[in-house]
Amino acid sequence: MIHSLQLGNKSFPVNIIQGPLAGISCAPFRLLTWRYSQPAFSCTEMISCKTLIHQAALAEQRFIVKDPGEGPVSFQLSGSDPYEVGEATKRVTGYGADLIDLNCGCPVKKIRSKGAGSSLLTNTAQLYKLICALKQNTTVPVSIKIRVEANSDEKFNQEVASVVSEAGADFLVVHGRHWTEHYETPCRYDEIEFFVNELKIPVIGNGDISCVSTLQAMFATGCAGVMIARAGVGQPWLIRKLMAEMHQEKYVIPSLKEIGDIFIEHVEGLNKLLGNEKFSILQARKFAKYYARSMGNRMEFCAAMNVCISLSELKTICLNYFY
Ligand SMILES: Cc1cc2nc3c(=O)[nH]c(=O)nc-3n(C[C@H](O)[C@H](O)[C@H](O)COP(=O)(O)O)c2cc1C
Repeated sequence: MIHSLQLGNKSFPVNIIQGPLAGISCAPFRLLTWRYSQPAFSCTEMISCKTLIHQAALAEQRFIVKDPGEGPVSFQLSGSDPYEVGEATKRVTGYGADLIDLNCGCPVKKIRSKGAGSSLLTNTAQLYKLICALKQNTTVPVSIKIRVEANSDEKFNQEVASVVSEAGADFLVVHGRHWTEHYETPCRYDEIEFFVNELKIPVIGNGDISCVSTLQAMFATGCAGVMIARAGVGQPWLIRKLMAEMHQEKYVIPSLKEIGDIFIEHVEGLNKLLGNEKFSILQARKFAKYYARSMGNRMEFCAAMNVCISLSELKTICLNYFY
């Protein structure tokens, strides 16, 4: 059910969170989510601790900028070395992180081979040190975001639950899939429930939430709050709509024209943030399809976007398809 959420020393009026999405979750996206939905908080995409420490200038615009107009933000770190995680924790605290999360779910080989992401689930001694490094270097609430053991040979749920408690994380985010599983495999609610029952700290359930029934299925695990990732892209009003519908209220979604305006605003924000039109357009190509969910000729729009090379061309394409 929707209610307030206490995470460590911070409280939030609602318990729905916009989750991290690499390549998407930077300030312009989060700003729109905040304007239309006011979730408990949004997340940055995963930021490498090494990059933060050694190339802060490079990382600056994209990863660490928090817009003064946006709501609370959880900065998500990726790393495997306690010293680096500690240093990165200090830096993002300085950049205004309202919460800090350590990624323990990323399935990408490059990340796993460095001992980070989901590989930490089977290296709980290291995980313990990393959570301690987070806790010792900030006063904001800290969490880790994990995947579950599922039917794999890796049995780590119990061990991870113990380490999370012992090291003093303030809450846990659980994506209900094994790191080898793709999105075709449905979210495993029973494993999220395992963590809810095992832990005294709040558990945030994540996976496949896009409507009231999937939201209710997640709340049925007993989780303190939920995280929505993919479904929030291209419909920044989704969380507000779900909250209204949970209270039996009607929510009128923006018209196709308004959605076009929001898409353009998103890309313009990205262009301003990155200061690189070409790169902004390349990014926009990746998330354009999400803004076209309700469009009849969606495929045609995506095809046009895939060869788009400038902001002015993007606006012309939008005129043809959204207006
Ligand atoms: C394109 C994409 C990028 C993602 N990037 C991140 C990331 O940077 N950090 C992270 O913890 N999870 C990341 N995820 C996983 C999501 O946060 C989330 O756990 C997963 O998509 C399940 O939630 P959903 O069904 O609500 O999308 C990413 C997922 C996608 C599809």
